[in-house]
Amino acid sequence: VARFGTRVASGAPNALSQLLAAKHAVGKPILDLTLGNPTMAGLVYPPDIAALPAAPTYQPDPRGLRGAREAVAADYARRGARVDPEHVFLSASTSEAYAWLFKLLADPGDVVLAPEPSYPLHAYLAALEGVTLLPYPLAYDGVWHIDFAALKERIGGVRAVLAVSPGNPIGAYLKRDEHARLLALCAAHDCALICDEVFAEYPASDTPDEERASFAAVPDAPALVFSLGGLSKSAGLPQLKLAWTVVAGPPAVRDQALARLELIADSYLSVATPVMLAAPRLLAAGAEVRTEILSRVRENRAALAAAMGRALLPAEGGWYGVLRLPGTRSDEELALALLGDHDVLVHPGYLFDFPRGTYLVVSLLPPPEAFRRGVEAILSVT
Ligand SMILES: Cc1ncc(COP(=O)(O)O)c(C=O)c1O
Repeated sequence: VARFGTRVASGAPNALSQLLAAKHAVGKPILDLTLGNPTMAGLVYPPDIAALPAAPTYQPDPRGLRGAREAVAADYARRGARVDPEHVFLSASTSEAYAWLFKLLADPGDVVLAPEPSYPLHAYLAALEGVTLLPYPLAYDGVWHIDFAALKERIGGVRAVLAVSPGNPIGAYLKRDEHARLLALCAAHDCALICDEVFAEYPASDTPDEERASFAAVPDAPALVFSLGGLSKSAGLPQLKLAWTVVAGPPAVRDQALARLELIADSYLSVATPVMLAAPRLLAAGAEVRTEILSRVRENRAALAAAMGRALLPAEGGWYGVLRLPGTRSDEELALALLGDHDVLVHPGYLFDFPRGTYLVVSLLPPPEAFRRGVEAILSVT
């Protein structure tokens, strides 16, 4: 149902760990002469350190502290998805989660497929893991959708298919039938699916709820699926460095994936304890930030639509506006003119590998007044 890379083995405990677990199970006190954790060594820490919002001890769990994983599972429950906290891994960011998943699933030189157009981070993350990233096309005919014929041609021998829902910058959610077809295709090719849902909670005002279901909610998924999310987008808190991966799929392969992922996560233990302890509060309070971001993004999208008309491609969600402009000047020329003559910075579309045509991409996050000035500048150069 999926294959794993050879960088990590299955993680079966050795004889010593089995004996230790048996002693722990019967409550036998052990004099631990392997102690490497200074917070368990009876040291006295200065008050400034002890007062940090963290327990004064370090109790690492490769998957992340259970309380934080429970908070993540509860957050999925709010969105109607049942997630077992034991199937959740915490990492410092979704970028790090991608790196771990590439290590888990692929060996150097193996291929993973990523949607195109999409934001360029995947290419760097794959290159850094020595994994070959090839594109599969998204087609636009008033809405964006996966070009399944092209994906089918390319999926043979591939280790993972990446999907971004809603996409950055295109703002298209994977549709229900796309969920099912992607899962079936991945299962048929022993390939895993990695679904990046970091913008899932920023639907456009007219996007129905049922169009934005999480992969974490798909029961009995026939393929191994990893759903990614994180505080950086869902609560507008990138500086806190807390993200999560939910592992789903046929139980046997899912459990193997969990065991192997645990070895990878254990090698880094990258999430800081204070943010994990604060996770329940941050996830709860994040709702307020999310509401604020959502109304900002919707207000700016409406202003952009009013000014640009049909040049603004419709979007079902996300934080970006995609403008398709007449091809009289290239996207780079337009971006240079905006910056050179108007001090306005936009992304030229080539950064995202749009198929053909002239595209500019603008963030919908700026304060509305400044945003409107930017839109006027865009109008004046197009
Ligand atoms: C679709 C998407 N996924 C993931 C990320 C990375 O987010 P993180 O801060 O969790 O690494 C970004 C960053 O912009 C993004 O646009």
